Amino acid sequence: MSGTKDMNLTLKIWRQKDQKSSGKMVDYKVNGISPDSSFLEMMDVLNEGLISKGEEPVEFDHDCREGICGMCSLYINGEAHGPDRAVTTCQLHMRKFKDGETITIEPWRAKAFPVLKDLKVDRSSFDRIQQAGGFISVNTSGNTQDANATPISKDNADKAMDAATCIGCGACVATCKNASAMLFVGAKVAQYSLLPQGQVERKDRVLNMVKQMDLEGFGNCTNTGACEVECPKGISLENIAIMNREYLKASLTKEE
Ligand code: SF4
Ligand code: FES
Repeated sequence: MSGTKDMNLTLKIWRQKDQKSSGKMVDYKVNGISPDSSFLEMMDVLNEGLISKGEEPVEFDHDCREGICGMCSLYINGEAHGPDRAVTTCQLHMRKFKDGETITIEPWRAKAFPVLKDLKVDRSSFDRIQQAGGFISVNTSGNTQDANATPISKDNADKAMDAATCIGCGACVATCKNASAMLFVGAKVAQYSLLPQGQVERKDRVLNMVKQMDLEGFGNCTNTGACEVECPKGISLENIAIMNREYLKASLTKEE
């Protein structure tokens, strides 16, 4: 259903020139925002206004604007991806806010996600964790077995598919009081450990990904579960349990 009246809003936005500068919250007004527009479209309206006044636009990350790429990392009114559940910031609609409301917009806050500029953070720590183990070896000899010929139980196929929906947005880290990346890493480890294709590197994967996660400065999991609540893809805490089991088994059985 379409919204009704256009909205006038006050935005409190984190502005930071670069990684070395200290930032501060700055107030802005945006008027005439349709309740049917997305949060990022509202940010576009703000930036068009700033550019037309000769001011520097607010930098924020985005790409697909369809909930797929995981780029749109905004902390809105104290919640990763804002007040709606199971959506990314780009899928958040302005009808979730009220006319006249003040909205606070900050970047993800975590030591392993340094702020590059304004609302944009460096999430290359996630890339390095993926590079440490988030891949599989495939037989490309010409005798490759057809994937459909490999039996996988329905339960494992479903769990692996659910884990694979993680888009690497980092909301779990931003939400966690310890800035733990265990929901993300758990999803990546579980996805492969549950499938026959993931068996070749199974032990190295979990050991190397967890090692890299610790090197990047992410915190530990203390089972508060906030990550699962704020995850736009509904990644289950069960993935952390799978990762912990995988890690223990690999540590005890890996030959040096
Ligand atoms: S587990 Fe969820 S919140 Fe964390 S990176 Fe993946 S999709 Fe984002
Ligand atoms: S811009 Fe791609 S998930 Fe939001």
